[in-house]
Amino acid sequence: MKQFLSIDDVPDLDQLLAKASQVKSNSNTHRSLGKNKSIGLIFLNPSLRTRLSAQRASMNVGLDTILLDVNSGGWKLEFENGTVMNGDTAEHVKEAAGVLGQYFDFLAIRSFAKLKSRDEDYSEKILNAFVEYAGIPIINMESGTGHPLQAFADLITIKEFQQHENPKVVLSWAPHPKALPQAVANSFIQWMKAANVELVVTHPQGYELSSEIMDNVTLEYDQKKAFKNADFIYAKNWSSYTDYGKVLRSDSEWMITSDKMKLTKKAKFMHCLPVRRNVVVSDAVLDGSSSIVLEQAANRIVSMQTVLQAILEGL
Ligand code: CP
Repeated sequence: MKQFLSIDDVPDLDQLLAKASQVKSNSNTHRSLGKNKSIGLIFLNPSLRTRLSAQRASMNVGLDTILLDVNSGGWKLEFENGTVMNGDTAEHVKEAAGVLGQYFDFLAIRSFAKLKSRDEDYSEKILNAFVEYAGIPIINMESGTGHPLQAFADLITIKEFQQHENPKVVLSWAPHPKALPQAVANSFIQWMKAANVELVVTHPQGYELSSEIMDNVTLEYDQKKAFKNADFIYAKNWSSYTDYGKVLRSDSEWMITSDKMKLTKKAKFMHCLPVRRNVVVSDAVLDGSSSIVLEQAANRIVSMQTVLQAILEGL
């Protein structure tokens, strides 16, 4: 593998899953793979899981690992070309990414959708600028449109817990007071489409995702109907794609509750975290035996380490 921007960079998903299984059974066998190589973990937005799992995974493969929070430790970056930089941006991404490309062998980048302009977010302007100007392999730690390391960890988790072939996996929109990106939902759908699962997406009217993402995906507007016979319920909020970045509703009608989980086939409950208790999901579900959110988070180390090994072995 040359880079990891999205599922499109994965040449063989079954092979990657097999590698993940080896990583999971023994994470310590490749400590010399990254010897004398280095990775920069560059965060333009907050993180708990991605930051620490990426560090753990990088250390597990022997990479020298340095983390930069751009907003607290770097200069405010400019991404527009031709700008007269007499405002608050002090450094252009052309130089910043170019310099990082001199310091590291790999870069991993987190840069959320800004939710102001759909065209801008969906052009992946920031991620692509690092690809263009750093000149070294880039790993996506959540970008404008996708969070593939999360989706890969989600798929690893589903494989571990599934009881039969072709499990029913339901991605359910859930309420949230703030406008959140579509990245997690987009990547989850892309990875589930590539896997051997029956995927159903359920959300209120107005929260339709892009037609490209939803191509060949079953959409059910009735959440309770969607939950019937589900093996996995994956809850996630996203803001409107059509009325871009808007929160159209935040009432509790779509919250995941024990009563709704009873409609399923004893489904496992998943969420990428962080999650707002009793807004997205009730305490009873999150604290109950069906919740596998911690196992899911643990697999973030596995997904990152597997990707790093695949890139290092492909050099
Ligand atoms: N799920 C996830 O990416 O968590 P963080 O935002 O804490 O990294």
